[in-house]
Amino acid sequence: MQKILVTGGAGYIGTHTCVELQNAGYDIVVLDNFSNSKPDALENVKKITGKEIKLYEGNMIDRNILEKIFTENEISAVIDFAAYKAVGESVQKPVEYYTNNVSTVLVLLDEMKKHNVKTLVFSSSATVYGDPEFVPITEDSKVGGTTNPYGTSKLMVENILQDLYKSDNEWNIAILRYFNPIGAHESGLIGESPNGIPANLMPYIQKVAAGKLEQLSVFGDDYDTKDGTGVRDYIHVVDLAKGHVKALEKLNKDGKGMHIYNLGTGTGYSVLDMVKAFEKANNITIPYKIAPRRPGDIAQCYADPKKAKEELGFVATKTLEDMCKDAWNFEKNNK
Ligand code: UFG
Repeated sequence: MQKILVTGGAGYIGTHTCVELQNAGYDIVVLDNFSNSKPDALENVKKITGKEIKLYEGNMIDRNILEKIFTENEISAVIDFAAYKAVGESVQKPVEYYTNNVSTVLVLLDEMKKHNVKTLVFSSSATVYGDPEFVPITEDSKVGGTTNPYGTSKLMVENILQDLYKSDNEWNIAILRYFNPIGAHESGLIGESPNGIPANLMPYIQKVAAGKLEQLSVFGDDYDTKDGTGVRDYIHVVDLAKGHVKALEKLNKDGKGMHIYNLGTGTGYSVLDMVKAFEKANNITIPYKIAPRRPGDIAQCYADPKKAKEELGFVATKTLEDMCKDAWNFEKNNK
């Protein structure tokens, strides 16, 4: 059985990916420092799959803990989720973001090299496309023009990985550019629970539905989109997690290479579409008001998912209704 190191495995996308990896028969080792997650999340993964997870608590910047992991376990590949991800916070704390999202990866890559583990799936983001030249966005669209340290940190790591592969073709790397993951596992045991007031749309809607926040502010209704509100490609987190298993299968099959994939559905929904879909799926009214545009936001961003379909056999299957139902189910379970 292949053993996979999942860094940041206790987080939102990490836990869902652990479930799918275990369901697919992989053995898992998790490294997490619980900076934005809780050990309970991994307990809940075990409840879902009935399988054990070997946990190391610590920070990826700590070479000693990586050394220990690679010495004590025969790791065949790494999936790296360990990063900060709050766009607004990254503007306030650039040094922390570049340290946690870039420096840590350099330590990880160095340790991987030392232990001759050269298979990596890296968690990137559609944010690397900046304000896209065209939609739907293909993988060879121009990258750059990121507007915050979070986005820039993802682009920096992508560039580092490209240089690494050029220097040594034995590396076997998949960069996954996520669009907007939402929803939760259907069990309601794992999902997204950000600390404080959520910055992202779906977690905010969940809190309004739960009566913890009064109303949603829709950031701008004068974009050049069908109803004037921002359009994004929302993908169910369980589909996204399955995309990682597909990427790993591809790397295992090919043995070496450098691949980049968009993980999205290919469909764009507006903010008002999302409000309506949530209301309909859950029979709840979401009060909202139109507010000014949020600085740094773009009008639309959605994927061309063709490459992932053709090369990975990846197709997102869950509907917007599934996303809304599962998000609310998790919220209710975690009051
Ligand atoms: N929005 C609102 N009100 C809110 C929150 C969001 O109207 O309270 C709107 C935004 O203006 C945008 C849409 O809802 O039009 C989605 O916003 P999110 O904050 O949920 O997501 P973003 O598309 O801005 O960013 C997300 C992740 C980033 C990632 C990016 C990739 O947060 O980490 O997708 O496209 F980089």
